[in-house]
Amino acid sequence: MSFRIISAALDSESPLECAVIGTGYMGGGIAQVLALHGHRVRLADINVERTQASRERLLREGEAYAGAGLFPADAAAVLAENLVVAESYEAALSDTAYVAEAVPERIAIKQATLEAISAGAPADAVIGSNTSSIPIRELSEFVDHPQRFLGVHWMNPAPFIPGVEIIPGPHADEAVLSASTRLIDSLGKVATRVSDSAGFVSNRLQFALYAEAARIVEEGLASPAEVDAVVSSCFGFRLAFFGPFAIGDMAGLDVYAGSYETLEREFGSRFAMPEPVREAISSGNLGVKTGSGLLPIDQDAVPELLKYRETAYARLSQLRQELGEPPAFRNQHSNTEI
Ligand SMILES: NC(=O)c1ccc[n+]([C@@H]2O[C@H](COP(=O)([O-])OP(=O)(O)OC[C@H]3O[C@@H](n4cnc5c(N)ncnc54)[C@H](O)[C@@H]3O)[C@@H](O)[C@H]2O)c1
Repeated sequence: MSFRIISAALDSESPLECAVIGTGYMGGGIAQVLALHGHRVRLADINVERTQASRERLLREGEAYAGAGLFPADAAAVLAENLVVAESYEAALSDTAYVAEAVPERIAIKQATLEAISAGAPADAVIGSNTSSIPIRELSEFVDHPQRFLGVHWMNPAPFIPGVEIIPGPHADEAVLSASTRLIDSLGKVATRVSDSAGFVSNRLQFALYAEAARIVEEGLASPAEVDAVVSSCFGFRLAFFGPFAIGDMAGLDVYAGSYETLEREFGSRFAMPEPVREAISSGNLGVKTGSGLLPIDQDAVPELLKYRETAYARLSQLRQELGEPPAFRNQHSNTEI
């Protein structure tokens, strides 16, 4: 199969015919991003009234975001032009090049929806599921011609979070994966391809953090608000710029090893030193200070890296002060300033 429609449109930078099935938080945000980039987006939800209400909400939001300087000034007009209510799945799906599925995270709903999309969309339309955690191999069972199917996992709120995970299904055609990556990149987002597994990379990490945070609260070490203050103002503050491996390489893997020893002694094997850290240390790779760590490091650029880091953190601190604490969560922690 050639996936001619999406590839040709991307090659010529012409607008794509898209469908967004499920127009709640995620589908709505995905539809706004596609429409703002000039693509024509047919919307479909459980019934036409719901779809119409979603379109109206998306236009209202678009106007408010433009007023706040978060969307381009002409966003409301562009959204009004490009977001179209489909009267039925058939109307949404005929002649589409790209379908975003964003219905609730329930297998039965995903199954019914993906079967309907399979039946209604052209055989060479690319179908991207926004599932948060269901392995793509499970969902691909519900798709005819599963070589056109993959996970395209956006984060909430879709218009403002840069990253999107691209997850191949077991049958996904390489042309589908590369066209989807190109599409996401062309929307100003950062597409990262990861292998298929429950929760992918983003939610596996996010839920691991959540589980440990909840344990800390259960043990009475800190309240939920105090945990949140520590995360967002301490180690989590860095995560807007660096992932765990860059942070580890900058801190020094020998330092990490010392902490793992203490944590394992206190909390057991879930805090055992990870094997790659042990191996890196035994090869003398402790991170920035020795030349490389778990990431390759360009030693000539280390002074620049440190300057980047300091600038990034100082500017982020200024932004936090300027914006203040998040409304509705203000003044909740007893002893921590953020
Ligand atoms: N909310 C998040 O933070 C988030 C982040 C990333 C991914 N996701 C994933 O995105 C998907 C959608 O989540 P959401 O938060 O937008 O949910 P939501 O409840 O806001 O929206 C789901 C929409 O799907 C509609 N719907 C239900 N059944 C349908 C059907 N059969 N056909 C068409 N539309 C139908 C609902 O009416 C609703 O408008 C889920 O798979 C979720 O796990 C959510």
